[in-house]
Amino acid sequence: MSNQPRHIAIIMDGNGRWAEAQGKNRSAGHEKGSETVRTITTYCAAHPEITHLTLYAFSTENWKRPKLEVEFLMKLLEKYLKKELPTYLDNNIRFHPIGDLSVFSPSLHQTIESVREETEGCTGLVQNLALNYGGRDEILRAVHTLQTSNESITIESLTAHLDCEIDVDLLIRTGGDHRISNFLLWQSAYAELFFTDTLWPEFTSDELGQIISQFKKIERRFGGVN
Ligand code: IPE
Ligand code: IPE
Ligand code: MG
Repeated sequence: MSNQPRHIAIIMDGNGRWAEAQGKNRSAGHEKGSETVRTITTYCAAHPEITHLTLYAFSTENWKRPKLEVEFLMKLLEKYLKKELPTYLDNNIRFHPIGDLSVFSPSLHQTIESVREETEGCTGLVQNLALNYGGRDEILRAVHTLQTSNESITIESLTAHLDCEIDVDLLIRTGGDHRISNFLLWQSAYAELFFTDTLWPEFTSDELGQIISQFKKIERRFGGVN
């Protein structure tokens, strides 16, 4: 029996390098990358065996970038969510933001909340969008919640307080680097890792399909023997 990747997570990297290679500024890469987000999300929504897609859009470390780039990314996110609401609804996709959202501007916060609420009844793919997300921050927030409520700390109770409770089956990073960059540290304990040199703006459904085909051939042992 072949594996089905139920939860796919993607580190969407390479927007800046794509833009620079085109002689454009980094913002153009982010803009183009947002089109890939739509393409890949609708592809996953059309494959019901995929139940969750988690996309790394902005890390807790990305605040170190130039102010103008950060501002552009915040505006792009707000624009994307407003524009793509029909895409979520038409494809039965539930939007679920993960990360520490408390730092965003009231206007962005409101847009995030409204798309979350409007898609709450969608029963198809769950798109977790990682915004001001860091794996360490997520684990720390979960531990604080457990401490405050005086719950015992177990693998199950800690998992239940994470932003994302579902283990990752397939973790993909575009853009040629081989690192995790603080993404889904807990949930990727037994993820299959795939790295591609393709820059995120050029990543296609075809390439995702090829990666999924390779994933299906892997013997996953989870520490046991087959
Ligand atoms: C990923 O692309 C998008 C974000 C981190 C927001 P980058 O902006 O990191 O692109 P490169 O890695 O500089 O090419
Ligand atoms: C990881 O990409 C974060 C996102 C894709 C949102 P970065 O470009 O920020 O990661 P590093 O700095 O190369 O590790
Ligand atoms: Mg990068």
